[in-house]
Amino acid sequence: MRKKVIAGNWKMNMLPNEAMDFIQKLTPLVKETENEVIICAPYTDLFYTILNAQDTNIKIGAQNMHFAEKGAYTGEISGKMLKSIGVEYVIIGHSERRQYFAETDETVNKKIKAAFENNLKPIVCVGETLEEREKGIAFDIITKQTRLALEGLSKENVKNTIIAYEPIWAIGTGKTATSEDANESIKKIREEISKIYGKDIAECVIILYGGSVKSSNAKELFNKSDIDGGLVGGASLDAEEFAKIVNF
Ligand code: 13P
Repeated sequence: MRKKVIAGNWKMNMLPNEAMDFIQKLTPLVKETENEVIICAPYTDLFYTILNAQDTNIKIGAQNMHFAEKGAYTGEISGKMLKSIGVEYVIIGHSERRQYFAETDETVNKKIKAAFENNLKPIVCVGETLEEREKGIAFDIITKQTRLALEGLSKENVKNTIIAYEPIWAIGTGKTATSEDANESIKKIREEISKIYGKDIAECVIILYGGSVKSSNAKELFNKSDIDGGLVGGASLDAEEFAKIVNF
């Protein structure tokens, strides 16, 4: 049985005081859950959220990292830096980074490898655009992104990679993929992993759905056979709403 994972992606929101209030509010609301609860905060909030989440079941993740360990990369943050303050997870290859910050399948792959080298658990995003979906090539796109993201990883690391299927047309638009569609896409991703790394590994990989997840649709989505939880944007900014999603 795969564990359910509910991860919030705050994107570029939340000042440190808001972040600390949020963690304090969220803590009692999710303390009974057996699901993995992760908050992916902006860099400037990480240290505060980690301190506040100590002795709770809330794990903290970053939203990006550089693949190099150190060096002349002005404005970048390395995996080693994240690990040094107690970060456990890192989102890699979010569609907003692919779209606005020239992230490619190649940099995504390098970042995943660097994350594992630093004992960070990557949450890797894949997903098709509306145009790709309408052309009928959505499955080709997401299986290719998955294959390239995982290229050269050991089986053990593949097993410990979390994948988030986030159809780009469903992000921040209020349009959610139907639970059947999302499950179908996630099954394709799992099949692709199975083809390369074997069924046993593929069955262990946690694959999330992301795109306008809220408390009103979480249960329907997360109860599907292959959807192992969610990567939640907008609805993760409100502690009560996010707690409802965690406790779906
Ligand atoms: P929304 O939940 O706001 O649609 O965002 C999804 C997302 O991009 C999470 O990474």
